[in-house]
Amino acid sequence: MSKVATLEFEGKKYDFPVYIGAEDEIAFDISKLRDMTGMITLDFGYKNTGATKSAITFLDGEEGILRHRGYAIEDLAKKASYLEVAYLIIFGELPTKEQIEKFDSDIKKNSLVDEEMKNIINGFPRSAHPMGVLSALTAALTAFHPNLTDVHSEEEMYNAICKIMGKFPVLAAWAHNKNEGTPRTYADNTLDYVENLLMMMYKVPTQKYIPNPTVKKAMEELLILHQDHEQNCSTSTVRLVGSSHASLFASVSAGVSALWGPLHGGANQEVIEMLEAIKADGGDVEKFILKAKDKNDPFRLMGFGHRVYKNFDPRALIIKSSADAVLKQLGKDDPTLDIARHLEETALKDPYFIERKLFPNVDFYSGIIYRALGIPVEMFTVMFAIGRLPGWIAQWREMRMNNEPIGRPRQLYIGQPSRSFVDMDKR
Ligand code: ACO
Repeated sequence: MSKVATLEFEGKKYDFPVYIGAEDEIAFDISKLRDMTGMITLDFGYKNTGATKSAITFLDGEEGILRHRGYAIEDLAKKASYLEVAYLIIFGELPTKEQIEKFDSDIKKNSLVDEEMKNIINGFPRSAHPMGVLSALTAALTAFHPNLTDVHSEEEMYNAICKIMGKFPVLAAWAHNKNEGTPRTYADNTLDYVENLLMMMYKVPTQKYIPNPTVKKAMEELLILHQDHEQNCSTSTVRLVGSSHASLFASVSAGVSALWGPLHGGANQEVIEMLEAIKADGGDVEKFILKAKDKNDPFRLMGFGHRVYKNFDPRALIIKSSADAVLKQLGKDDPTLDIARHLEETALKDPYFIERKLFPNVDFYSGIIYRALGIPVEMFTVMFAIGRLPGWIAQWREMRMNNEPIGRPRQLYIGQPSRSFVDMDKR
């Protein structure tokens, strides 16, 4: 017999179905709660609310486990390419040679961007944050490709997916070129996805662009680590926007905006700025730990804590072990890495952080690597967005394929009761 959960309230009992996930996670299905009882649940920040069933990513925050379609993130980061992982996440299986070649070629066919998009970029001030530019340009794709805004069949979805996968890194690179005042370059179809991204960001007309394999490898690993993280803030945003059948381009544009916030993807920029501030202040790590613990001080240790990981973030472990190697290979010495290590060691021994289960998250060390790779600070979150793109696409596609209903939460109204209108002269 399938399990039920019983809610007892004011002498009445109500039964709700119980679902068991593939990893024995238990969920009470309260979707009929309001119909049955007239009541709703309250869950600020959705800390306990499962908004969907998903077959893409499994994560166990207590054990520090992250798997995509059943494969461990540690294996994917070391053994697969960015595009292979993207294919796996979006379509459910590791691709065969033929499948990945077709996907790669279909994406490359879509890597041209309408020249008129450059007019939109030209309208931004040079100081524009590239996340704002990227979000706007991604939304603008709806205007340039109206035939792919209302997609229903798998084939139409595939075309929209290849379109955005092809154009997104171009738009991201152009957002960077805007800040730098450098020319906007197109992709070179002889290069792979990650090489192209770096080339478009750094190629200048006066010099031959020579790819650096160490930079490419480190960048690919970082992008893979960020590909999906189940129902995080930006992904939930993509699903919520997409649930109204808004286009993939509009949904991803909203995801970029959600990712920009300093409590989410924007944290990688904040981490490096915090480490710089500690360095400029004389490097007194303990002073900043005290500030982070002080409830009257808004300062938080950026790159620490996670909504789901309460033990360790497996992505942070992979990045931490890469940080040393990358800096060594590139012959760079970054004093902020020492501050980061000191900060981590001190915080991990401190009862405040131990009791609240606050550990370094993926963003704690990624900024240090990005900087060693020559990525400017304001582009850190853009790199995260490029990494996360396949996850947003996969979650949007899964939601549309499963015909999920429009997302529309309820609320508990705590405002004024009904009252009579007061004329202006009596207020
Ligand atoms: N520094 C100091 N104290 C912290 C920190 C921090 N970084 N993070 C949480 N706390 C404290 C809170 O003040 C709170 O203390 P209290 O119980 O005494 O009130 C307790 O730990 C729980 O914190 P919440 O904010 O309730 O935890 P939540 O799960 O809502 O937030 C979040 C998670 C947003 C990531 C938070 O830890 C944070 O702000 N971290 C810094 C920003 C950051 O690094 N974000 C990146 C997240 S990873 C990603 O998006 C890829």
